[in-house]
Amino acid sequence: MLRFLVLSALVLLSSAQSTRECPDNDYGPSQCTCTITALAGIDHRIIDCQGKSLDSVPTGIPADTFSLDLSNNAITEIPAGTFQTLNSLEQLLLSGNQIAAIPDGTFLGLDDVKVLKLSENRLTTLTSEMFSSLLSLEQLDLEDNQIATVSGSPFNGLARLRELRLNINRIVNLPTTVFQGLESLQKLYLQDNFITSVPTQAIRSLDTLIELYLENNDILNVRNDSFVGLTSVLNISLSGQPNLVEVEAFALRGVNRNLERLEIKDCPKLTILHEETFQEFTQLQRLVLSNNNISRLPEAALKDLNRQALVTLSGNPWICDCRLSWLRDWMDEPVMNPGLLDVSNVRCAAPPKLQDQQLDVVDRFDLDDEDVCNLLNPAGQIGAGPVLVASLFSLFCALALSFTV
Ligand SMILES: *[C@@H]1O[C@H](CO)[C@@H](O)[C@H](O)[C@H]1NC(C)=O
Ligand SMILES: *[C@@H]1O[C@H](CO)[C@@H](O)[C@H](O)[C@H]1NC(C)=O
Ligand SMILES: *[C@@H]1O[C@H](CO)[C@@H](O)[C@H](O)[C@H]1NC(C)=O
Repeated sequence: MLRFLVLSALVLLSSAQSTRECPDNDYGPSQCTCTITALAGIDHRIIDCQGKSLDSVPTGIPADTFSLDLSNNAITEIPAGTFQTLNSLEQLLLSGNQIAAIPDGTFLGLDDVKVLKLSENRLTTLTSEMFSSLLSLEQLDLEDNQIATVSGSPFNGLARLRELRLNINRIVNLPTTVFQGLESLQKLYLQDNFITSVPTQAIRSLDTLIELYLENNDILNVRNDSFVGLTSVLNISLSGQPNLVEVEAFALRGVNRNLERLEIKDCPKLTILHEETFQEFTQLQRLVLSNNNISRLPEAALKDLNRQALVTLSGNPWICDCRLSWLRDWMDEPVMNPGLLDVSNVRCAAPPKLQDQQLDVVDRFDLDDEDVCNLLNPAGQIGAGPVLVASLFSLFCALALSFTV
């Protein structure tokens, strides 16, 4: 405890010591706050002009500025060359303005900028020369704009970019060359757009990518080989596709075998999953399949997951017959099987007598006792005998019916 107190006191003391006001004769724009912070023993000038109702970038920003925060103002345009003298700038924050266009040359001179935030602006297009001078850029935030048109290779040259946010825009299609040059990209945020298919060709070269977010788009079908080339990816999210019906059997072929997390939830029409899709991914730690329209899933789809994996299956209209008895068995043997995170919400939609019941409290015998199970022999194959009997029976009924009419 004492140790903790001493430590906190030290932290407080050092942070108090390391930041100071800029001297009057070297203060920068009067509308903004100017402080000097020592990071690793080196002074860094921070100019903070957040929320000052500025309609343009103020003049007189000192050339040694390290971080310039112009967020939440009313800036509509930035003339080319505005930042040209700021050779020490590493962070440029322009979120929450009304910037609609970025002319070529806007970021000229910003060779050391690592973080550029342009979220919550009014950008509609991305073009090839926009960011080309930002050779050190590691993080680019274009979240919540109105970007609909992306042409050429707007990120070409950004070989150090690690994180790219394009979420909450109006993107429908991504050209195959869009991510060209992104040799270090680790996180790609594409959620909340209008993308209609996995941009397979565009992401193909992203072999350093670790996280891919595609949720809340309008992907219609996840085809075989959709993610080919993502050999480092650990997280993929595909949730929230209102019209997605099927994930094809080999949708994940070519993806990093060590994939850790896969989310495909909240797709109300997602009905078809194949047993092959997850089989290679024995390192999955989290598989989210909740709130879809899945009524059947063969045991083979999940049996290769490791026992540390956590799986979510709730909110689906499960047909609780003998074909789902494996899942009922899993629930009785939690130590032997991958973990089911939401057991108490895995409910039956059919047959009628089990409707709305929790699968984990359904009597094992009730699953086996269904009419449909009588058509299945113990190996799970459709038996010729019962089928024949059933067809003869319906033929008889049909004949009987036609005689009565
Ligand atoms: C996906 O791949 C599997 C196996 O190669 C194949 O059987 C299936 O037809 C493919 N799906 C489509 C739509 O091509
Ligand atoms: C994957 O996503 C989860 C939740 O979004 C996050 O907590 C985790 O850190 C991510 N893991 C990796 C390796 O990116
Ligand atoms: C859900 O799946 C069933 C078949 O299992 C289908 O009849 C129904 O139309 C599907 N619902 C939606 C919303 O797609």
